[in-house]
Amino acid sequence: MISLTVNGRTHTSTCSEDARLLDVLRNELGLGSVREACGVGACGSCTVLLDGKPVSSCLVFAFRCENQRIETIEARGNELSAVQQAFLDCGALQCGYCTPGFVLSTTALLAGNPTPSDDEIREYLAGNLCRCGAYLEIMAAVRQASQATAAHPEVRPTSRLSPRTESAELLATDLA
Ligand code: FES
Ligand code: FES
Repeated sequence: MISLTVNGRTHTSTCSEDARLLDVLRNELGLGSVREACGVGACGSCTVLLDGKPVSSCLVFAFRCENQRIETIEARGNELSAVQQAFLDCGALQCGYCTPGFVLSTTALLAGNPTPSDDEIREYLAGNLCRCGAYLEIMAAVRQASQATAAHPEVRPTSRLSPRTESAELLATDLA
């Protein structure tokens, strides 16, 4: 049995030792924004924030997340963040499947680097893929959110690693 803190609330899970964080969040807690596409850490659709750092939850064992703060896009309820508002304003989505992951990764990026260059945005979001190809609009949304965040910082510690790199490192540690 493990205890997970998700979106500010504590949940107890009897998941198996090898259960992925993705499965617990989707199947036990019903958090539909955490989406599986590739299942191998290559797309970022399953991105969540773990102590403020974006990780691919398909590559993270649930048990290792005890005593860590897990956030999904549902954390804010109906209140839109500056990043979410920017994605809406810029039309930075088509089917929307990738959007929660992009929003969370962008939130982490701007918390650590409120005014990233275009190259820094591309580098940080490299672990998030959009099959609809809305990259121009996504870049515009990140720039708009950057302006809003710089004016009103949403302070959140973060790492400069991409979700894919971070999650792969966690998995490698657990399997060693
Ligand atoms: S489902 Fe693609 S990175 Fe997790
Ligand atoms: S908006 Fe469809 S995958 Fe990104």
